[in-house]
Amino acid sequence: MQHTSDGLSTQGIKYAGSKKKLLPYLLALAAELPGVQTVLDGFSGTTRVAQALARRGYTVTANDTADWSEVFATCYLLSSRPDSFYAPLLAHLNSLPGQNGWFSRHYGGKETDAKKPFRLKNMQKLDAIRAEIDRMPLAWPDKCVLLSSLMLALDKVDSTLGHFCSYLSRWSARSAGDLTLHLPHRFAHGGGHRVWKQDIFQAAARQNWDLAYFDPPYGSNNVKMPSSRVRYAAYYHFWTTLIRNDRPELFGAAARRTDSRDRQAGSVFEDFRRAPDGHLWALHALQKLLAQTQARYIMLSYSSAGSIAKEDLLDALRQNGKLLKFLKIDYKKNIMSEMSWTGKWTRDEKNYEYIFLIQKSA
Ligand SMILES: C[S@@+](CC[C@H](N)C(=O)[O-])C[C@H]1O[C@@H](n2cnc3c(N)ncnc32)[C@H](O)[C@@H]1O
Repeated sequence: MQHTSDGLSTQGIKYAGSKKKLLPYLLALAAELPGVQTVLDGFSGTTRVAQALARRGYTVTANDTADWSEVFATCYLLSSRPDSFYAPLLAHLNSLPGQNGWFSRHYGGKETDAKKPFRLKNMQKLDAIRAEIDRMPLAWPDKCVLLSSLMLALDKVDSTLGHFCSYLSRWSARSAGDLTLHLPHRFAHGGGHRVWKQDIFQAAARQNWDLAYFDPPYGSNNVKMPSSRVRYAAYYHFWTTLIRNDRPELFGAAARRTDSRDRQAGSVFEDFRRAPDGHLWALHALQKLLAQTQARYIMLSYSSAGSIAKEDLLDALRQNGKLLKFLKIDYKKNIMSEMSWTGKWTRDEKNYEYIFLIQKSA
């Protein structure tokens, strides 16, 4: 376990919307706020933001509806045994011979049979390892360390573009590597963190925080993009199945879980439809969330490619507090500018990441 105060060293899988690159900005903004100790990371995804905040000494609650996000958060924020407890367990899992099973059948491709997310040899390893983890008599936080290690190892040998909606027609170079589990880079913590797997409306009103950070799904402002292509449950169904190990019914060429279909697994923040008042349902959801959240400060991430127009975002924020900061970051060049919020807005044509910070009205 590392003892470091460097909040920027985090781990995570490839994930659309991961805030890995934005960590320096988010941490700097949080550090400027007086008296902030408790923080909610409300849509924690990879948990990179939650990890960074916890490394900086904040008391963090990580929340996300995804099963696999809960597992990462439990590994980094709750597990407390030393690395020496997990090292022999990982060595044992690494030594298991591969075997054919459910994952090999559905997600493993032979040499000549690309268009699968992993090589057959690594899915055979996975079948052996996943079954063994279920057999091991371990407490949940300890299981989460092994499962996090497994996800990080799989992410290094995949043959995808970073999601599981369609697969490459030629094997990626990294897919030839052998699946090998390593110790996750956990860090010492004094306890007090929490991990929830709840809808954000339940989570945000459950208690008071000094700071709430929200990074909701953005949907897409590209009307030609089918909504199913920008939905997290559809993109990352494989990780859900890996954690649940529930052998779900699958459909389509990408072998998605049937419960990741549009009608069953949508988040209100991904809803591209308009309410009777002409505004997006996603905007109504955000307004409701800002109003219901019990926090002194709220930090919100959003993308210029997202479905909600920036004027509407700013209105929603202004209705709920005083805008303290508004950053616009060119994602590709990693250049930041600070925006004034009185000027007239036009839609940014490039891909920018926005960070808004408000002090919430009482
Ligand atoms: C933009 S991603 C967050 C990325 C994260 N900040 C990171 O750095 O990896 C949005 C997340 O919101 C989660 N989500 C979607 N709807 C939700 C809801 N109603 N309540 C809680 N989490 C939700 C998704 O599972 C997804 O992980």
